[in-house]
Amino acid sequence: SGEEAPSTEIITLTRHVLNDQLHLGSAATGDLTLLLTAIQLTSKFIATNVRKARLINLVGLAGETNVQGEEQKKLDVLSNDIMVNALRASGKTAVLVSEELDNAIIIEEKHRGKYCVVFDPLDGSSNIDAGVNIGTIFGIYRVRPGSDGAVEDVLRPGNEMVAAGYTMYGSSANLVLSTGSGVNGYTLDAALGEFILTHPNITIPTRGKIYSFNEGNSMYFHPPVTAYLKSIKYPVPPKTPYSARYIGSMVADVHRTLLYGGIFGYPNDKKSKNGKLRLLYEAFPMAFLTEQAGGIATTGTGRILDIVPTNIHERCPVFLGSRDDVLDLIKFYKEVP
Ligand code: AHG
Ligand code: MN
Ligand code: MN
Ligand code: MN
Repeated sequence: SGEEAPSTEIITLTRHVLNDQLHLGSAATGDLTLLLTAIQLTSKFIATNVRKARLINLVGLAGETNVQGEEQKKLDVLSNDIMVNALRASGKTAVLVSEELDNAIIIEEKHRGKYCVVFDPLDGSSNIDAGVNIGTIFGIYRVRPGSDGAVEDVLRPGNEMVAAGYTMYGSSANLVLSTGSGVNGYTLDAALGEFILTHPNITIPTRGKIYSFNEGNSMYFHPPVTAYLKSIKYPVPPKTPYSARYIGSMVADVHRTLLYGGIFGYPNDKKSKNGKLRLLYEAFPMAFLTEQAGGIATTGTGRILDIVPTNIHERCPVFLGSRDDVLDLIKFYKEVP
């Protein structure tokens, strides 16, 4: 009989993180674990709404524009509300920054904790109505010593984050998380309502065969990017060209890059001086995960995680992925004027 009995040894996200924290000894109070429990709940809640969107009239526009000048979709607004409410109620947060809110939320004393969460409640809005993968991205800082919660607590480089992750809503909900010692992937078991460890210790291949850029912007690209793309599309034999994959949801494009390798890029160009992606809640968390998985995340000229933000909604150019692929790109930035 080739039938295998179902495994009774399942590792949930909470168990896994608790275990990690135990190794830190007395320094760990369990607060981060509780905060991550709240984040898991928001992901489950958003996942069910994403799944039901068509049925309960959640597709389409909400009728408002966010601070980025983008039209908000109903699911952008709903996901934002879900996260703000759950994170406030967790009692573990002091500052919240969302793509969909003009200003940072400073949590009132009654509910205040010691963590700050920066998030993109729903990433890949343009893909919602087509049922294509979308996600939630988050980064977590600890408040500065002595702070009661202020915007300065999140105007800090990404290398000071204590954890970062995303949940991708696809054929299943996948939560990918790093608390600073590697990257692990969990899949939502809908029957159990738990995220189960399915992708332990994710590491990016040192080189891939896929590039992921919105080449529709080619006419605006700067020479180093144009020259780099040409080098992977018209390689010198015996090298063979790369494959193109671009979904247009950062979560999905980065998820594939972490698993398969290759390079994801959203450059600054002649049209967008700082690119499109937002530093705090898109670039930093994804750069954190990429580095933790053994890859590189750069603006082309410098490490993303070292940038000191001056504005919660500022943007930055992003290139991330397999070490050797990103090093090639950096070489073009050094050599092409
Ligand atoms: P959001 O939906 O949260 O506003 O983010 C959209 C971002 C990101 O998901 C994606 O990588 C990028 O926009 C795609 O932009 P283009 O449509 O310009 O390629
Ligand atoms: Mn948006
Ligand atoms: Mn986004
Ligand atoms: Mn978004």
